[in-house]
Amino acid sequence: MEFLSWSPDYDLPHPLINAQHQALLAALNAFAAATAADSEADPTETLVFLTKYTAEHFKDEERLMAQANYPHLAEHRAEHVALFEEVEDRVQAFIIDGDATGLLDFLRAWLLEHIGGADRQLAAYLFDHT
Ligand SMILES: [Fe+2]
Ligand SMILES: [Fe+2]
Repeated sequence: MEFLSWSPDYDLPHPLINAQHQALLAALNAFAAATAADSEADPTETLVFLTKYTAEHFKDEERLMAQANYPHLAEHRAEHVALFEEVEDRVQAFIIDGDATGLLDFLRAWLLEHIGGADRQLAAYLFDHT
């Protein structure tokens, strides 16, 4: 069973953002699967991919915001910066203690909160203004 399945509730009206969110969720599921006791995959490798992809996704959203003169760019970017810093801290903690539970719960919560909050607001604006 997947750690976090995609739901139509998470769909946003912007094809690129939506596709990247689905890929983020898939990367999170790959990490969760790699942390299972019987897994032969390397959790750290999947986590490196997840963090790199997150950074790219944030950059792409920030480019879209700048191109569209999005009025909430500064707040949205600040949310990305804070999220990424916390992800990095928690990844370091995972590498040291090997306990994935806290990191997985944190990743699931922020993904859903950020997609359903700031990203939903952004996608609606882009839908109306581009
Ligand atoms: Fe975002
Ligand atoms: Fe996003």
